[in-house]
Amino acid sequence: MKDYRLDFPLLKRKYNNQPLVYFDNAATAPKPQAVIAAVNDYYHLHNANVHRGPNFLSEEATLLYEGARKKVADFIGADKEEIIFTAGTTAGLNLLARAWGENNLKAGDIVALSRAEHHANIVPWLQLKEKLGIVLEYIDVKSDGAFDELSLDKIFDQPRLRVLSITQASNVLGQFYDLKSILARAQARGVLTIVDAAQSIAHRPLDVRSFDCDFLVFSGHKLFAPAGLGVLYGRRDLLDKLPPFLGGGGMISEVKEQSFSPLADSLKLEAGTPNIEGAIALGAACDYLREISWPAIIEREEVLVDYFFKKLETCDFVRLLGGRSGRLPLFALDLQGFHPHDAADLLGEQGIVTRAGHHCAQPLHDALEVSSSLRASLSFYNTTAEIDIFFRTLQSIKKSFSF
Ligand code: ALA
Repeated sequence: MKDYRLDFPLLKRKYNNQPLVYFDNAATAPKPQAVIAAVNDYYHLHNANVHRGPNFLSEEATLLYEGARKKVADFIGADKEEIIFTAGTTAGLNLLARAWGENNLKAGDIVALSRAEHHANIVPWLQLKEKLGIVLEYIDVKSDGAFDELSLDKIFDQPRLRVLSITQASNVLGQFYDLKSILARAQARGVLTIVDAAQSIAHRPLDVRSFDCDFLVFSGHKLFAPAGLGVLYGRRDLLDKLPPFLGGGGMISEVKEQSFSPLADSLKLEAGTPNIEGAIALGAACDYLREISWPAIIEREEVLVDYFFKKLETCDFVRLLGGRSGRLPLFALDLQGFHPHDAADLLGEQGIVTRAGHHCAQPLHDALEVSSSLRASLSFYNTTAEIDIFFRTLQSIKKSFSF
């Protein structure tokens, strides 16, 4: 069986003489050599601004940048014209709340979210609530991580429901949500649908045509590409109607002293010099994953999930947040007898990288009545041997706190 760890230079380093065990993929994924090479090539051979020719370097950079847009579009089943490069998931959601929300919502309109949302899909709507007086309603999440049907029904009964903005996977519960029926239900009601795919994009194939989503966002850095680069997918007709959000170079067709006209196509939403190398690297990440193939990725992740559950049974001081079914290889643990921050710190001393805290999902932690958790988020390249190291070390940390 291929050892995919070898594709990631970061994983060759040691800390305190221990091999690196990287269990923080949900915070940001390490970069494979293929992605690093794409950035390296751009700097070594093509470094230039895009859409600002005519010179051969700019033409090459533009071809690479637009080629990356096509690769990303193919990766999620979209058309190239439906892909906007943003600064990340947070930027994409803020853009939608501002450019769409401010122009289409008014006081009393309802935006529905789930209790499993990351702050990036809560705070922009809270800001809009302060500004416009919209109302936020939350779909309850049950202890097994699934959406509560009764609370869904209640929300869909509300005549003022205008937007459903929802995550495809929880960065705490590890639950992957099959959003098909809930999105169809929203669309049937004429409700705008937004999907936050930040946590699912590296784990499951995505075909934006397979469900009724109007907009979808994700970040490059969780898909093995650099940070500061994200994707906003939008249905073509909706993008056409979306007013420009940021103003500046690259998004205009004409500027006069007292007026401007934006570009007609979706580049109107990419003001300023974009993250060129980030986009090119994201294209390379899509190629890398396509080569490995989704069936291989899913098979490996399922082995990791089963093994993690098996090892969990040996730890009576750990309570897993969320349920078992539909679980991605992401596990947030409520620890008895010691604090998650101490655990993450001490695991780190042994070269094991995890995250502790509320993981930018404070309302969810409040609903679960835990203030923080220790999170191990794995990816297809991780191994069962690394899971053994994690649990062995966690057991010895627990022991050291028992005296
Ligand atoms: N959203 C990222 C996480 O869950 C940063 O850790």
